[in-house]
Amino acid sequence: MKKYTNIKDISNLQETIKEAILLKMNPFEFSDLGKHKTLVMLFFNASLRTRLSTEKAAKNLGMNVMILNVNDAWNLEFEDGTIMNANTSEHIKEAAQVISQYADVIAVRAFPSLTDKQKDESEFVMNSFVKHATVPIINMESATAHPLQALADAITITELTEKPKPKVVLSWAPHPKALPQAVANSFVEMMQNMDVDLTITHPEGYELSEAITKNTTINHNQEDALKDADFVYVKNWSNYKDYGKVLNQDENWMMTKSKLGKAKFMHCLPVRRNVVVEDAVLDSEQSVVMQQANNRTFSAQIVLKQILEDL
Ligand code: CP
Repeated sequence: MKKYTNIKDISNLQETIKEAILLKMNPFEFSDLGKHKTLVMLFFNASLRTRLSTEKAAKNLGMNVMILNVNDAWNLEFEDGTIMNANTSEHIKEAAQVISQYADVIAVRAFPSLTDKQKDESEFVMNSFVKHATVPIINMESATAHPLQALADAITITELTEKPKPKVVLSWAPHPKALPQAVANSFVEMMQNMDVDLTITHPEGYELSEAITKNTTINHNQEDALKDADFVYVKNWSNYKDYGKVLNQDENWMMTKSKLGKAKFMHCLPVRRNVVVEDAVLDSEQSVVMQQANNRTFSAQIVLKQILEDL
């Protein structure tokens, strides 16, 4: 693997999931593979799971890890040809090349502005690192994608499914703040590549990009969509058409035990209790959020392993 900025960078998904499950059984099997190799993790935004699980994954492979909260460093300029006489002190051209001298792999987390759709969709932060760094780049959640989370979710469904083709429902939920579409986008794209029956349910007007959903079933009636579901993935995203706006906080969309039926409950975390999902769901045996969070280590580890093998 040359980079992992999008799930399309996985050449054989089924094999990759299988290998990740094997790594989970024997996490230190390849503890020499990353010897004398360094992962630099760059955070433009907060993280709990991504930060700790990716560091753990790298260390399981014997890598050194360095972490930089980018907001503690010089303000970066991403535009070409700018006269840098305002707030930015260092251009991405120098920064990415400098970091590449300290790193064998660079992982980046950079959320969208949710105010400038065109700029966010250009993935200018992630793509600037891909363009100017001289080492492989891993996406730890960008403006439009969270491929490490989606791979962890695919591993979780593969491990827990009791059917060859489970019904998976992605259900929008209310949230007081404007959140990115990244997790939902990558989850949809991942499920489109798996042997599942996928339905998306959300209020009218909350459509994700058609470039992501393609011909996936969309049902605006949540109760109807949830019928006979095996896995229910709950996630808020802000409005995509009226970009970044919170136009709906209808609490009737919150996931409850009665709506969930017999399905397993999934969420990437962090989650706001009794806003996105009621306590009774999260505290039940049907919740698999801990398994998802645990699988973040093995999604990162299989990606790092495939990248190290290709260095
Ligand atoms: N799910 C996820 O990416 O968690 P963090 O934001 O805590 O990394």
